[in-house]
Amino acid sequence: EKGGFDHFMLKEIFEQPTVMKDVMRGRVRLDDGLVRLGGIEDYLEQIKGARRIVICACGTSWHAGLIGEYLIEEFARISVEVDYASEFRYRNPILDKNDVVIVISQSGETADTLAALRLAKEKGATVIGICNVVGSTIARETHCGMYTHAGPEIGVASTKAFTAQVIVLYLLALALSKGRTLDDHEIELYLRELSAVPDKVGKILDLNDQILAIARSYKDSKNCLYLGRGFNFPVALEGALKLKEISYIHAEGYPAAEMKHGPIALIDEDMPVVFIANCDATYTKILSNIEEVRSRKGKVIAIANEGDEDIGVLADHVLYIPSAAGPVTPLLNVIPLQILSYHIATLRNCNVDRPRNLAKSVTVE
Ligand code: M6R
Repeated sequence: EKGGFDHFMLKEIFEQPTVMKDVMRGRVRLDDGLVRLGGIEDYLEQIKGARRIVICACGTSWHAGLIGEYLIEEFARISVEVDYASEFRYRNPILDKNDVVIVISQSGETADTLAALRLAKEKGATVIGICNVVGSTIARETHCGMYTHAGPEIGVASTKAFTAQVIVLYLLALALSKGRTLDDHEIELYLRELSAVPDKVGKILDLNDQILAIARSYKDSKNCLYLGRGFNFPVALEGALKLKEISYIHAEGYPAAEMKHGPIALIDEDMPVVFIANCDATYTKILSNIEEVRSRKGKVIAIANEGDEDIGVLADHVLYIPSAAGPVTPLLNVIPLQILSYHIATLRNCNVDRPRNLAKSVTVE
């Protein structure tokens, strides 16, 4: 049942190239840049005209929501707000029929997300669901929605469901841009970038042994910091969540530029810092953040792009991944972070599939 892998989590990490293709199947037509999202077709025009979009979710699904915010604002230029479902439901949110609420949930049963969905409906908003479990409560109660089609996710730590959620949000952002903010040629280019992702993920999975070696060096760490910017700031949060929930190492994710406003005080020789350092507009800024960590004796693990010569000099460890257009990079950068937490957790003899105190679906408040 684990397909030859030691744990469901590892199986699910390695399934991602296939799952990603399944998520795109029937939804992406490359030759004419068409995105088909059957589940929301009838609501598409209404969503395009929304005053704003509010995304509500918890945990890893909330991180996917943050990436969704960056994607929808970048492509479709519709203003997006992302909230923890648990906060949203208790703060009397300002919402009416001109707003669209997107709820994201792997299980489709998370109590807080379900309560947020019911509140949004009560206030007259149109509610769209992005769920993995077919026929789940959240999927049934939304006005319309899209399934992630990632297949059953058994590991408590969400991996393939997360990348599937990001792909659905990416496709939604493109569908909302069509005829408005992006021309057909641009949409086609972004779809091509997305279609190239599964093979690139396959290459990243080949780094498994290299990541295991890094995990051996840091398995006894007490803390770990994850830094990224832009589309990859939520990936830093997700990397930190993955590590803390299965290895019980305290970890924090931050936007890299925020380091100087506090977290830098934590840096010493016992603090590993994972940098998402792709060659993009903020690359040189990230390099100076790396230097700041180095000069305080922090250990640097960098996720960088193949062919990047500079970073090897600065970082203690570099994981080279294929380069890609900015909006798809979260789908690539998150993979080594998932694998790193998996190895650290197993080296510490933690039960990765069933971490302590956690449940696969949180049906209590
Ligand atoms: O089923 P959901 O996506 O609604 O679950 C939300 C969170 O409970 C979930 O993502 C949790 O944070 C995971 N353990 C993360 O790996």
